[in-house]
Amino acid sequence: MSLDLLLPYLACPVSGDPLRVEGACLVSTRGARYPIIDGVPRLLPPDLLGPLLREAFPARLAADSALAAQIEAAASAPPEPEVQATLTAYNLQHVEMADEALPVDDWRATWDRFQPGLPPAAFADQAVLEIGSGEGRHASLVGGAAKLMVGLDLSRGVELARARDDRRHVFFVQGDLRRPPFRPGAFDALYSNGVLHHTPDPGASFKAVTPLVRAGGRVSVWVYGLDEMRLSYRLSHLTWLRPLTNRMPKSAQVATAWGLTAAVEAALWTPARALDRLGRPDLAARLPYHDAAARPWRYKLRRMFDRLNPPITHYLSRADLEGWMAGFEAVEILNTEGQGWCARGVVA
Ligand SMILES: C[S@@+](CC[C@H](N)C(=O)[O-])C[C@H]1O[C@@H](n2cnc3c(N)ncnc32)[C@H](O)[C@@H]1O
Repeated sequence: MSLDLLLPYLACPVSGDPLRVEGACLVSTRGARYPIIDGVPRLLPPDLLGPLLREAFPARLAADSALAAQIEAAASAPPEPEVQATLTAYNLQHVEMADEALPVDDWRATWDRFQPGLPPAAFADQAVLEIGSGEGRHASLVGGAAKLMVGLDLSRGVELARARDDRRHVFFVQGDLRRPPFRPGAFDALYSNGVLHHTPDPGASFKAVTPLVRAGGRVSVWVYGLDEMRLSYRLSHLTWLRPLTNRMPKSAQVATAWGLTAAVEAALWTPARALDRLGRPDLAARLPYHDAAARPWRYKLRRMFDRLNPPITHYLSRADLEGWMAGFEAVEILNTEGQGWCARGVVA
């Protein structure tokens, strides 16, 4: 896979220097090395790159002594534990718990909910950056219109995204959005769905990524809220349970998600399917969360686990988002059907 189209957009996440391809690495003008593995540039800063390579790609580290020396030199500055834990948590969710059959209709429905009035076609001929692209579900939609589509994610979800989408103009990069590996002003548009609230300081994260968009370009981010939101949505976040589950090992979180999914299956989804079969979809539609009733078990389990999995979760208010968007033009703060906030504007 050629990185020629991507290269002009990239920069070293530490120094901001330009990068060039050297064998299976990207190398900065000051000699910092970032491996390209399975078609994905691993542009994590050294504190996060070291643990990733040691755990997942030790052979690659052993084979590149210059890279190993660079990682060794960074070992004295360990990563923030919560960010390291976020990387590991989403490896599990995106890769090990991946959906068996791709629920593309659900990908479209979530895009429409998170980004109302902004169809993928609105990105035609633009260079677009997705912040926190996960398994690549929304990049796959926007990539159908964009001139260049780049998905950035902390986790190894980028590997799955890359394997599923090999279009020449679509790229996935592993990196930390707070130290983004891109040139300022490089992109025509940026969007992010359900990501910034999983970082230690969502407002600071927003400020870290918006300079990547040129003046006149669009920024549109969707984040969690609790105030002004629907009761069923607020309940689905299980905020009352999190103080307990946050301390659990992952296996216990998966077991808890399994038990909760089984309870919702018995209480809501089985009755919803029965009502559908009895020719009363109108009644089935009145049950909360009925949209998932006919989905496979793994789909439901994964989405339940998503509530318990992230080590960091913030809920933003309308006032928070108004503060973020100060200085943008054509600002919109949208309550997305009582299920979170979309904040949108044009870079001044
Ligand atoms: C709930 S998932 C959403 C993924 C995707 N936007 C979607 O809707 O399918 C949150 C994503 O944020 C990513 N993430 C969290 N912290 C990040 C960081 N500091 N830098 C980049 N990505 C991050 C996680 O790895 C995860 O894939």
